[in-house]
Amino acid sequence: MADLFDLSDGGANHQKPQDDDHVMTTAQGHPVADDQNWLSAGPRGPQLLEDQIAREKIFHFDHERIPERVVHARGYGVHGHFELKKAIPQYSRAAIFNQEGVKVPTFTRFSTVAGNKGSPDLARDVRGFATKFYTSEGNWDLVGNNIPVFFIQDAIKFPDLIHAAKPAPDRGFPQAQTAHDNFWDFISLSPEAMNMVMWIMSDRTIPRSFRFMEGFGVHTFRLVNAEGKAHFVKFHWKPALGLQSVVWNEALKVNGMDPDFHRRDMWDAIDAGDYPQWDLGIQVFDEEFAEKFEFDVLDATKIIPEEQVPVEIIGTLTLDANVDNFFAETEQVAFCTQNIVPGIDHSDDPLLQGRNFSYLDTQLKRLGGPNFTHLPINAPKCPVRHFQQDGHMAMHNPKGRVNYEPNSWGSGDGADVDPGPRASAERGFQSYPAEISGAKVRERSPTFADHYSQARQFYISQTPVEQTHMGNALTFELSKVQRMDIRKRMVGHLRHIDEGLAQDVADGIGLTELPDKVPFARKPITDLPESPALSILKNGPDSFKGRKLGIYIA
Ligand code: HEM
Repeated sequence: MADLFDLSDGGANHQKPQDDDHVMTTAQGHPVADDQNWLSAGPRGPQLLEDQIAREKIFHFDHERIPERVVHARGYGVHGHFELKKAIPQYSRAAIFNQEGVKVPTFTRFSTVAGNKGSPDLARDVRGFATKFYTSEGNWDLVGNNIPVFFIQDAIKFPDLIHAAKPAPDRGFPQAQTAHDNFWDFISLSPEAMNMVMWIMSDRTIPRSFRFMEGFGVHTFRLVNAEGKAHFVKFHWKPALGLQSVVWNEALKVNGMDPDFHRRDMWDAIDAGDYPQWDLGIQVFDEEFAEKFEFDVLDATKIIPEEQVPVEIIGTLTLDANVDNFFAETEQVAFCTQNIVPGIDHSDDPLLQGRNFSYLDTQLKRLGGPNFTHLPINAPKCPVRHFQQDGHMAMHNPKGRVNYEPNSWGSGDGADVDPGPRASAERGFQSYPAEISGAKVRERSPTFADHYSQARQFYISQTPVEQTHMGNALTFELSKVQRMDIRKRMVGHLRHIDEGLAQDVADGIGLTELPDKVPFARKPITDLPESPALSILKNGPDSFKGRKLGIYIA
């Protein structure tokens, strides 16, 4: 080995291969004699275009960047495995849920939402928590966040939400998700965001590290068993290390000192063999519960309280291997909510339905064509057989002469030719035959209309210290908003959630009088007929930290 500090030969010694396996080649496999000096006409002459070695090297470098994700651009991926601890054949026919002890390889990517690829880890922001399960029946992607609810109910609003949260288009700042006029303008005009606002103003948006975060699938999905019977389900990740956050002052310091704090923490933990774990929990309920529940289970701005439907733990995720290559794995991984296996199905949640379109669409561009499932990180680890072919970078075209169906190869005069794969009604994915009806409309059901009760419920369930942090966060964020009418509109919403909180924030941001409550844009839920579920919530089960869960009465 060359002495690392001996540069007396201009560093040439460091370029010598150690053995035949280390001889550098071009991408075409040609051995390279010198990749440090461009071929030139004499040692001081112009460089020659002829130099295919230099041109290939520069050409490839010029094309290294791909578009960053339009959201969740900054992320960190880790390999692991999921082990099923409790089979649930009564709910789902999915292989991953049917054999206790079965281990399925996984890839998990944690992310922030609003910042670009180079933004700091401790921005106040929602964290993405996306896991790809490479199951024996294909990939299942659980593409969730560390917060169980979302800002909006309908995917058509997503571009507006993200435009408002990202830097303003004229000035290109601020980077932070929350602290600016555009974001709070949009939010203050979107009452449905109020529950999420309380969650993002809580300490959950400044987690101690990825290892101390919960995760949620957010939407209501369906589980479908072998008899075709369906239940609704919400997915939860519960961290073995518990839930921990930093405080705002720490977040600011950490961001300045080490913007890679979260990714470094994950890398170091796994490198040291200190593998983080999460339990996978499910809340399962049926149509009957869904109909009686005081909120719409298809509304992604609402939770199903764990007091009403306890979380059942069914398995454990262990993250135990860092990536070999950040770009190949973390950057090129493509999660999508539409990647589900037989035994799991979508619901009519209008946010979920929009996501099912959006991810595949964006990945077509981000990953350069329709063949990104050929990339090792995205490729299923089970047999893949279909007639899809060609396109940019096709690596696994169908073999043989048959690439269509129906076909009669494999029989008659063509008996000696492989007819290729056939769909199987028995093993294949069957959509749950939910009954649907109704006129085509552009309006939401009134069951999506109560925007404040759960926001209030979340706020009052917090400890006094946590409530103070939420008040301080709102005061800090709104004090950065320059337009006074936006500040007032936000306080007008807070008054529907908690008058004390509204007053504290109003004082903190220099409002001399409390603004009026923002009028309800839609019919409040309290007009709906009372249900048993509603009365449970009204009475406030003791288990909820001893506090009443008061439903909002307008
Ligand atoms: C990316 C979660 C809503 C569009 C992501 C990622 C997560 C996530 C975790 C990062 C995946 C990764 O690590 O690669 C969520 C959750 C939502 C939500 C939990 C609401 C419950 C939406 C909606 C849309 C959307 C409504 C669009 C209509 C996207 C897009 C990406 C993305 C385009 C980038 C995907 C890529 O480039 O691979 N989302 N999201 N998301 N999300 Fe969402």
